[in-house]
Order: sequence, then structure tokens, then C-alpha cells
Amino acid sequence: MGFEYFREYKQNSTIKIKTSSTNLIEIERRVKNCHLCPLSKTRKNVVFGEGNKNADLMFIGEGPGANEDESGKPFVGRAGMLLTKIIENVLNLKREDVYIANIIKCRPPNNRVPTLEEVTVCKPYLQEQIAMIHPKIIVPLGSTSYHHLSDDYNMPISKIRGEVLEYGDAKLIPTYHPSYLLRNPSAKKDVFADMLKVKKLL
Ligand code: URA
Repeated sequence: MGFEYFREYKQNSTIKIKTSSTNLIEIERRVKNCHLCPLSKTRKNVVFGEGNKNADLMFIGEGPGANEDESGKPFVGRAGMLLTKIIENVLNLKREDVYIANIIKCRPPNNRVPTLEEVTVCKPYLQEQIAMIHPKIIVPLGSTSYHHLSDDYNMPISKIRGEVLEYGDAKLIPTYHPSYLLRNPSAKKDVFADMLKVKKLL
């Protein structure tokens, strides 16, 4: 069961094909019925992701928290409000212009960091989503997201943030997670600088 989800998704297309939303709906249908890990037993809602299905810019967080689990939408709590402000006030975009998703689609109990096993079974869904949306730029938010997207597990986010990396034919520009900014407001200037880089490359 679930074998097809373990295929590595090749991010190798060079043409931006307009995404048929039926394809994303098909992936969402599978995710909503997913029971590949124990988080399916404790979730209230799957948080699939939302936004422009043809977005040039995709943000990828860690995993749903309590508000997201309750609503089924990504980044709707305090960190989400800050992310929305960054999108609107720094990038001069609307939240609906970008696509927002997470490394895992179901909330880990007590907001703990997802385990490698949970990420391993869930990440193929995200990889399919990325392949469908085919963004120009992907912004991993925080170390968990960066580590699992890059497989560069030993790299601290403080060292790699703001770098422009390759991810298939997209650019990967990691930055701090908005929850980190809520605890460390002095890091906002770094995220501001990273977002200016994103804006220039869009
Ligand atoms: N933190 C995340 O990483 N993702 C969300 O959707 C909300 C908070």
C-alpha cells in the first residue's frame, strides 16, 4: 500500500506548463485519504496547501500547527499572519498570488518537529505538488523545511539563508521561519534582505 508514493519525482521539465487544477485536486484527494503514517490518526484536517496553482513563487513551511489543523489551511496562525505581511509588504504580492505548502501535511502532536519517517512518506506528495506548480522560486521557511528539501541535513539555516541554490530548474532561496521571527524580531532584517533577492529574481 502506498508504494507509488515512494517514487522520486524528477524535477526536470524546462517548460512552464499551465497547471490543470484537476491534477492538483487529484493529488489532494489522495492526500486526504492518506494513512501512511500515524499522524493520520491524530489529525483533524489534512493541510494540503493553497494558493495560485501557476505561482512563480512557492513557500514551504514545516508542518501544520493547531490553527492549520483546525482550518485545513496553511499558515493561518500568528506565524501565518507574519508570512502574509512579508508577502504583501516586502514582495508587494497578494497571498493568493503565491503557493503555500508544508513539508508534511498533517499536524504532529504538540507541534513537535516531524520525524524522518513521517517526512519520508509525506514528501513525495510535496514533490508532486512542486512538479505541478512548477514555480520559479521556492522559499523553504526554516531549517526543517530546508533540510528536507535539500537533504543537506548538517547545514544550519543561519549559514544558508539568502543563498540562491538550484532545485531542479527552480531556484531555492531559504530563509528563517516566521515563528523564529516572532521569537527573534532582530532577524527580520535578514528575511527582508532575502525577500528582496526573491523579488529581483521573480
Ligand atoms: N508553521 C508551519 O511551518 N506551517 C504552517 O502551516 C503553520 C505554521
